[in-house]
Amino acid sequence: MFEKFKYWYHCTVNARRQPFLDYSRRLIMIGGHHYVVRQAAEKDINRLVEVEKQIYGTAPWSYAAFQLELSRHHDRLYIVVEHKEELVGFIGMAVDWYHLDLHITNIGISPDWQKGGIGTYLIKTAIAYARHLQLHSLSLEVRVHNLVARHLYERLGFRENQIKQRYYLDNHEDAVDMQANLLSRGE
Ligand SMILES: CC(C)(COP(=O)(O)OP(=O)(O)OC[C@H]1O[C@@H](n2cnc3c(N)ncnc32)[C@H](O)[C@@H]1OP(=O)(O)O)[C@@H](O)C(=O)NCCC(=O)NCCS
Repeated sequence: MFEKFKYWYHCTVNARRQPFLDYSRRLIMIGGHHYVVRQAAEKDINRLVEVEKQIYGTAPWSYAAFQLELSRHHDRLYIVVEHKEELVGFIGMAVDWYHLDLHITNIGISPDWQKGGIGTYLIKTAIAYARHLQLHSLSLEVRVHNLVARHLYERLGFRENQIKQRYYLDNHEDAVDMQANLLSRGE
């Protein structure tokens, strides 16, 4: 019963306190390049799908999948990074108000722009946003074989929790479930 009450409280009271997730546009410089960082909007979806195609060869997330995510203003936030109006990277976040967790749903940097610090910047932005919302943790899943991403997350404070077997639908690859605990970092 108490669990049900907690769930109701987080879904109603917290959701009312934070009805819309928003992120203000900013200009940043990483490694000598200037970028615009801003909240994603519906007009960006074709370019988000295009970045996924550049990375994976196909687009794991369809136009409709991004559209659904971007429509959920109360618990989703997508941020894009642009260089001279070219969309070069993005990150997606989903707030779990019940567990006070910020889940990273997706992150992608266009191949030409990888290794330039944008991924690090976006994960740090997610951590800062989780703190801003007074959440307790961040979480994500990553393919077992994606050592670049696993290393990046570990360097930024994520720890491996468990393996989710055959998690990915395309090739049945296992996922590593990772979490960064903000409370244990004194935050
Ligand atoms: C994983 C990813 C988001 C990292 O973004 P990024 O902008 O390239 O990351 P950064 O430039 O901040 O680099 C982070 C680290 O990864 C290393 N790195 C990045 N790309 C690399 C590559 N292709 N090969 C080897 N090392 C790489 C960097 O050298 C850096 O290492 P360091 O921490 O020892 O300095 C990006 O490579 C990407 O989009 N990959 C394809 C999609 C993907 O895997 N998404 C994650 C799904 S969970």
